[in-house]
Amino acid sequence: MRSAELDEFVEKVSERTDIYSVVSQYVTLTQKSGRYWGCCPFHNEKTASFSVSPDKGLFYCFGCGTGGNVFKFLSLIENITYFEAVKLQAQRLGIELPKRNSSPEQERRRREEKTLLKINEVAQDFYHECLIKTTRGEVGRKYLAARGITRETIETFRLGLAPEEWDNLLKKLTRQGYTVQQLESVGLIVKRKTLSGYYDRFRERVMIPIADIFGHVVGFGGRILTSENEETPKYLNTPETVLFNKRNLLFGLDKSNRAISSAGAAVVVEGYMDAISLFSAGIKNVVATLGTAFTPEHAKLILRYAKKVFFCYDSDEAGQRATIRALPIVQQAGADVFVIKIPDGKDPDEFVRKHGKEAFEELIKNAATLIDYRMNYVLTNTEHSTTQGKFRALQEILPVIVNIDNPITSNEYCKKIAAELFLDERLVADEYRKLLKQESSSKPKKEYIIKEPRTYSEEELRISMASEEILRMLWHEGDILDYVLTVLPQEIFTPCHREIISWLKNCVAQERRPDKISAAEELSEEANSELSRILMNGSDEFGKKEIALFEESLATLRQVVLMKKFYKLNAQAEKYVPEDEMTYDKTVKELIKIKAEVDNLKSNP
Ligand code: UTP
Ligand code: MN
Repeated sequence: MRSAELDEFVEKVSERTDIYSVVSQYVTLTQKSGRYWGCCPFHNEKTASFSVSPDKGLFYCFGCGTGGNVFKFLSLIENITYFEAVKLQAQRLGIELPKRNSSPEQERRRREEKTLLKINEVAQDFYHECLIKTTRGEVGRKYLAARGITRETIETFRLGLAPEEWDNLLKKLTRQGYTVQQLESVGLIVKRKTLSGYYDRFRERVMIPIADIFGHVVGFGGRILTSENEETPKYLNTPETVLFNKRNLLFGLDKSNRAISSAGAAVVVEGYMDAISLFSAGIKNVVATLGTAFTPEHAKLILRYAKKVFFCYDSDEAGQRATIRALPIVQQAGADVFVIKIPDGKDPDEFVRKHGKEAFEELIKNAATLIDYRMNYVLTNTEHSTTQGKFRALQEILPVIVNIDNPITSNEYCKKIAAELFLDERLVADEYRKLLKQESSSKPKKEYIIKEPRTYSEEELRISMASEEILRMLWHEGDILDYVLTVLPQEIFTPCHREIISWLKNCVAQERRPDKISAAEELSEEANSELSRILMNGSDEFGKKEIALFEESLATLRQVVLMKKFYKLNAQAEKYVPEDEMTYDKTVKELIKIKAEVDNLKSNP
């Protein structure tokens, strides 16, 4: 989307932006020797090592090494891309976005979508006002109060009440000039079956607005006020519309994404009410699915903000089955998965209301790992007192641990299984190995630990460790890519690392921060897992230690590059001896230069 107009736009926003006034909205800053100082919002610290220099328009943290311009700051703190940060700041300054060169058809569709979002917003306000201001709202207020939902929570989630009449919202919105087609397409009204005309979909229900991650209302869940009966469903939801797709939406994420990213973890619950209740109790990193199964899209959404996912479904059988189904989806997406067990058959809403925030945090602390949970699930749901039963249970459990990459861990689990089933450890280990073999032959792409260990030369090891260090730095600091590539030719890297580098290069060119989701989508499977491994092996911090390591690695690889060149030229020089004096001279000079650089690198690594 690069264009002169766009560059001009970025420049204009940049010119009018004062980094101090932006940063100080998020960080308390005090002035000291021409700079402003505060505690870094990007890592935990007690002394102020985060500095802002308004003259240069830059920020830098001496503690963690994070730094950059104002848009970098905004993108980090708001968890958005660089360009989104520019747009956000433009919006705050009231600078208009340059008009996109889109076709009239695209333009029309965009306008229509905006209108539909507006309709949902008007509906949200209508329901909300009805709940809090009108006498008709009394039933809703009573209902929510009885469930322990405070006025503050009602405001936070903009909860509402749909009145009992058949066409209240319909009348209001058509009076405002919206067409019935528009209202029908966002799911707020329904066509009558026999008579002509339309009626309000939601009546006599507590209304829960559902927003996308930007906070735009895209649909609603409506709960009946009375106790459940068989004729009317407990919740009525917006049907699938152009705006509302349950596979891609997580209730509450618009409010919880900051908390999810600072906790490094998300709690996933089943019900709207669970999410609302946990959030208002202070467990703010919570989202709920919308009464559907957990999808890979949901996993990706969460992974934008955090790597850990805690499932906290109801402890009834349906909830546990849903958990079992969700686990592999989240694991395959690359998340670390845990399962929270709510004691005494309660759902998260009931539990947190009764026992409070600290008790829930204790449950999070004691959450089971994915493997432990699945193991227990199999053990409690299979009959394993007989020999036959033991064997069947073993066949069920082993696939659970077959994906563990670490042989020590898998060995531990084998022992545990043997103990649980009163089986001989060696027998379990044998069965495990058999399965491993089977798996690796049926899925040739996946590599298991059993594969022959390759032996590396010391030189190879040194090179690969240094390359990894450099890739880690490039992941965090794309800006230095050009520099790195002037020092090191791409050929020094393995094909797999080269793929990662050229992808990172693309990210820089497109002004987006590389993230694990797009890595998963855009890289080959091999490169993606290599990248994950590299990132996992290193620290997330970027301080002096990491910078020193990076510089050392750069020097190591530079030496390798130079020595390769040296040997190649040396061989050539010998050939030139008799014939070509001039080329010989040139080559020797070059050789001396290379040697000098190598020596220099060796004495100042
Ligand atoms: P729950 O019954 O666990 O929801 O169903 P809840 O939020 O805890 O409800 P209450 O108010 O405390 O009783 C889980 C989710 O399944 C969807 C909703 O998204 C609900 O939040 N659901 C449930 C429906 O869509 N329709 C239904 O009739 C029931
Ligand atoms: Mn509930």
